[in-house]
Amino acid sequence: MITVQRHFPLKEYNTFGISAFAKAYTATTTLQQLKEALSYFKDECVFLLGGGSNMLLTKDIDKPVIHVLLKGIKVVEKQANSLYLKVMAGENWHQLVMYCVANNLGGMENMALIPGNVGTAPIQNIGAYGVELKDIFHSCEVMHIKTQEVKVLHLADCDFGYRESIFKNDFLGQYVITSVTFKLTDLTLATQYDFKTGYGDIKAELEKLGATTLENVAQAVINIRQSKLPDPAVLGNSGSFFKNPIIARDTYDILVSKFPDMPHYPINNQQVKVPAGWLIDQCGLKGFRKGDAAVHERQALVLVNHGNASGDEVLAMATHVQKTVMERFGIQIETEVNVIS
Ligand code: EPU
Repeated sequence: MITVQRHFPLKEYNTFGISAFAKAYTATTTLQQLKEALSYFKDECVFLLGGGSNMLLTKDIDKPVIHVLLKGIKVVEKQANSLYLKVMAGENWHQLVMYCVANNLGGMENMALIPGNVGTAPIQNIGAYGVELKDIFHSCEVMHIKTQEVKVLHLADCDFGYRESIFKNDFLGQYVITSVTFKLTDLTLATQYDFKTGYGDIKAELEKLGATTLENVAQAVINIRQSKLPDPAVLGNSGSFFKNPIIARDTYDILVSKFPDMPHYPINNQQVKVPAGWLIDQCGLKGFRKGDAAVHERQALVLVNHGNASGDEVLAMATHVQKTVMERFGIQIETEVNVIS
């Protein structure tokens, strides 16, 4: 049985805290309910909602919203030091990371405190501090929106890239991800484990905490994130609003001669990734505010809602940031957040 509510308020269901309504809304906590909801709305184009942490609503959603709240965590296989954990789509990502840390399962600790749910994590191949979802992804189960047919997709099927996957491209709007199976390292069995501590401030933060353990690596990430990223429960936001642009090495060479301090990460011989946060910061936009829409004062890559900003006001801020960066550096920065317009 599903319950459908009409003209449903979404303010509590998006981490930007934008006030908007859904034409219809139904919560699904079992696969059976999800099937039922998809077939109930089979003649309409549905909107799938997960943790609501990567979207900017600029208007009401004129579609039925299906909230994917499937729960459950299960060990499905053990193989030498590897443990395969099947996690349902509606589980909260950070709680899962903490569950893995508590159970001595390595692989997710660098991705602590990323907002959102498990089922939406593969869509943009979430990542932080040198680790991406794809590094621990084994497979996912998906349900076809129109036929409700279920199938399994493996790592090679998903075309993961930097904040990219097949779900944003060829499979856009076709499937609901119902569960993800992760391949993790069981540290109670492993004699050796390769902690990823080389990225950014992790090493320095770890030194303050003591030994390099799963708990401490996760805590180091939590401390760093809390020092610069706003907590959506306190200040509306969707994490990085923009992707870090990947530019041609020739362009980079010209820019770096003008801006020798520009941080960069080489991608290959031809391409370099530069931090959009740094570009925006250099434009003097950190903390820039218009009404309740603003650039976060501690991390320029994040846009925030100080209370009652509309989605259009946040979008206008984003456009202003993009234009300013283009004028100063000649670089087009793309949004990472899904803008619903
Ligand atoms: N920087 C500035 N000013 C700023 C922000 C950044 O100068 O306002 C500089 C920093 O000093 C540093 C560089 O830019 O030299 C990179 O900054 P940071 O390490 O904070 O990471 P980021 O590139 O801005 C990315 C991810 C984050 C992730 C961090 C850490 C993207 C779009 N964002 O940010 O992911 O937590 O690296 O791995 O790739 C998210 O996707 O929502 C997110 C928070």
